Amino acid sequence: MNPSKNNLFYIQRDLHSKYFKLISNFDRVEQGKFIEDNQELTKIGNEMFDSFFQYKSIPKISLFVDICAAPGNYSKLLQKRFTESYGVGISLPVEKGGVKFEIDSKKYKIFMVDILEKEYKIQVPKKIDFGMASCVSYVHDKKNAAKLNILLILTSLNLILKNLKKDGYLIINLTFKNINLLYNILEVLISYFSDFNLWKSGKVWGTKNSFYFFGYGFKDNYDDKLNKIREDVNSDKNKFSEKFYGNKDIYFKITKKLNKVFITKINSILDILS
Ligand SMILES: C[S@@+](CC[C@H](N)C(=O)[O-])C[C@H]1O[C@@H](n2cnc3c(N)ncnc32)[C@H](O)[C@@H]1O
Repeated sequence: MNPSKNNLFYIQRDLHSKYFKLISNFDRVEQGKFIEDNQELTKIGNEMFDSFFQYKSIPKISLFVDICAAPGNYSKLLQKRFTESYGVGISLPVEKGGVKFEIDSKKYKIFMVDILEKEYKIQVPKKIDFGMASCVSYVHDKKNAAKLNILLILTSLNLILKNLKKDGYLIINLTFKNINLLYNILEVLISYFSDFNLWKSGKVWGTKNSFYFFGYGFKDNYDDKLNKIREDVNSDKNKFSEKFYGNKDIYFKITKKLNKVFITKINSILDILS
């Protein structure tokens, strides 16, 4: 039950390091400032929502929260599908290195905040039906960026799950860069939902370690397990990166779905090589 011994995980990691130069042409910096590519975000956003709603259709979304939402492509796409929905977008202030929102809707409220600020709480009039987060840290140093990305993921999950309605839905981008940590996070996340799926686009950022978790039917049983992982990562103790603490059933449940994600990445790298 060692996630890093999984064949497909091993193959994708091997290909990644072997062809690193070929696949790492992903520069999000322009004139010293981080930028977002609206065309790519729209493409992956459409594909992501298609996959999410194909797995299970949802009749209605009244209120949703989008964390790390700017420039707002995913929010726009969701409001296109659910025209009655009211959205709340939260993202890093521009003066702190964030990007501007490019969304103009009377049914969309914007909060420019750093979610890592202590004590930050989402302000919503009632519990939300749907929460999504796609945080990416804007740090050049690779080691710090990886830690910050995990803290952003765990912080945004905390903000969403505290405000999610029973039977609600979740989309969050995750990473398999640290595989043991991922399995430990997934074990907890899975326990909060009646069903889940893992999805990676083969068309946009297929060679990256990122993918999406889809949660269906929130059980309203959010507890402090993810915060324990967050404290562990934040204090650099990294106990949850050493090994997977869950049981065999959960291990196989996660591995079965994660293998599809690894195959997508492997095929994306092979496509570039051919
Ligand atoms: C990949 S972009 C999200 C794109 C967005 N989902 C869309 O569809 O347009 C990542 C976002 O995370 C935001 N971000 C990074 N660190 C943050 C923080 N500490 N607090 C809030 N937002 C943050 C960035 O400013 C950026 O807008």
